[in-house]
Amino acid sequence: MNKKVSIDDSLKLLSEGEVVAVPTETVYGLACDATNKLATEKVYALKTRPKNNPLIIHVSSIEMAERYVHFDSQAMHFAKKLWQDHKRSITFVLNKKSNELDHAINNKETVAIRIPHHPITIELIDLFQKPLAAPSANISTKLSPTMESNIDIDCFILSGGQCSVGIESTILDLTTDIPSILRHGECTANDISKITGVTVNEYVKGSEIECPGHFGKHYSPNLKLRINVENPSDDEAYLCLGPVTNQNHFSLSETYDLREAAKNLFATIKKVDNPVFSSISIAPIPSKDIGIAINDRLYRASIS
Ligand code: TXA
Ligand code: MG
Repeated sequence: MNKKVSIDDSLKLLSEGEVVAVPTETVYGLACDATNKLATEKVYALKTRPKNNPLIIHVSSIEMAERYVHFDSQAMHFAKKLWQDHKRSITFVLNKKSNELDHAINNKETVAIRIPHHPITIELIDLFQKPLAAPSANISTKLSPTMESNIDIDCFILSGGQCSVGIESTILDLTTDIPSILRHGECTANDISKITGVTVNEYVKGSEIECPGHFGKHYSPNLKLRINVENPSDDEAYLCLGPVTNQNHFSLSETYDLREAAKNLFATIKKVDNPVFSSISIAPIPSKDIGIAINDRLYRASIS
């Protein structure tokens, strides 16, 4: 089963073409050397991920990213502001510069790339001196793990504690004239505009095909999940905001803090995904700030 490894072990394993689950601030990623064909094939197989769904590339600096993708002046402005200065959880889709990552990105012309903000994984990439391909460390369509005990894939694990954000990064397409959000995440369109001074297109349904791994059913527990529920039934697990007294009710944040709710979301769903309950229901979550991404994930998890 899963084996905990150190940074040194991870470096050795990655250079031998092995796969290691690594911590990021959003969710754990299933990482491999992004330039190694066989290693990327292992990641696809372990996740049972369709081959046409490209992997996210993780780098530790803008300089490292520049080796693999083209930055025009706007993209560089976004990278400096959002990745470097504000350490936001955002992935950019940019045009590729070399063919070195072709196996990881399914020969696409564009690359989804980000700097993860977790010191352990930054150190790992710095030492490895190569980018890591790292999709979320879940079996395709299942819940993403935000702590190592929730990793269901049989792999080596580099421990990094509970992920502080708890929900996957925002994906922003920077290859079009007006940047467009392809997946909601920690960094909202509002945040992006405030920080960069540039207005970006909100995520639009129907553009989903541009982010091939995000459409349809996803993030699913085994039990049926119902959203926007105000009156749960007695035999359901009920996830909500604020203090709880009923033993079948679980608070995502006792203080109604949406960032805390995002951090706890996947782990709480995983905890209650147990046949002692008939189903899981979730209270309405305000669609503002990171609540927008929470509602996106909950909607996809509720599709049967
Ligand atoms: O926070 C995150 O982004 C986490 C952590 C581990 O970094 N990673 C993550 O990876 O969520 P994954 O593979 O589960 O989701 C990445 C999404 C997929 O839906 C994939 O289709 C999309 O990014 N993607 C990858 N390359 C793309 C590209 N060139 N253009 C558009 N979407 C792309
Ligand atoms: Mg995923």
